[in-house]
Amino acid sequence: MAPRICRSCGAEVACRGGIFRFLSSPRLAQVDPLITQYRRVREQDGYRQRGAAYYRRLPRVARSDPQQAVWRIRQESFRHLCGRVLARLGRRPLRVLDLGAGNGWLSHRLTLLGNDCVALDWLDDLDDGLGAARHYPTTFTRLQADFDRLPLVSGQFDAVIFNASLHYAVNPTATLRNAANALVDDGALVVMDSPVFVSDADGQRMLAERQRGFTDRIGKPFEWGAGYLTVDGLARTATEAGLMLQTIPSRGGPRWAFKRWLAGRKLRRQPASFGIWSFGGRAT
Ligand SMILES: C[S@@+](CC[C@H](N)C(=O)[O-])C[C@H]1O[C@@H](n2cnc3c(N)ncnc32)[C@H](O)[C@@H]1O
Repeated sequence: MAPRICRSCGAEVACRGGIFRFLSSPRLAQVDPLITQYRRVREQDGYRQRGAAYYRRLPRVARSDPQQAVWRIRQESFRHLCGRVLARLGRRPLRVLDLGAGNGWLSHRLTLLGNDCVALDWLDDLDDGLGAARHYPTTFTRLQADFDRLPLVSGQFDAVIFNASLHYAVNPTATLRNAANALVDDGALVVMDSPVFVSDADGQRMLAERQRGFTDRIGKPFEWGAGYLTVDGLARTATEAGLMLQTIPSRGGPRWAFKRWLAGRKLRRQPASFGIWSFGGRAT
């Protein structure tokens, strides 16, 4: 596809493999070590699958899937997102921005439901990044870009969704506030399935455990963003932006509940919560 000219800044944007390329070469070189390590961990954890059938079913997976418990949470959150957040916006098609889209499963699902989606990620990988869109029968716009520096004109989306990704931001509050600019006035800003802790100390404990686990598996891991969010941080962002915050927890199945119980007993910390944190509507 021929290069396109960006309407907001006038720069030429390359499009390769159907993906608009907004990351500069220096930025790509900067994030490459992180991405390389991320790919390795995701491969080991069973997220990088082969074959279109796997991708088309997401967020549903087979009972034997190594990440079945995680995907069960994701299914629950997806139901909340559609039934309790997007449905309330009361219009169709919705223009949706899927941030940290990974393999694009959410954009695929929402496109099937009749919406117009833009999926954005650093990764253009064929199995776990924007390149995985080759598996879907739907088409949606794909941008290889940084969600901390959105290359987008303000006020274009009905919903902006951080899909299991906001905790990768170094400063989640700033990233969230910045992303809110992409919304129309009565749009919904959604944080979905990031680990959220009541206590910052518990979040720090989780990070320390995870670092130890990664070091055993892959050597010293790169630090990638905050790693978790806090209830206070999300509430503060809502107050500062003058927006109402709605929380819809996803509770998962018995395996998930067991893992949470174990974390409490063995690691002496409260487990993270997952689900939807939706910012929308002016607080009075
Ligand atoms: C845990 S994965 C979630 C992927 C997908 N949304 C899902 O539900 O399976 C987090 C994603 O966020 C992306 N990501 C992290 N930081 C980013 C940034 N600053 N800009 C763009 N994408 C980023 C990663 O490349 C990764 O694909």
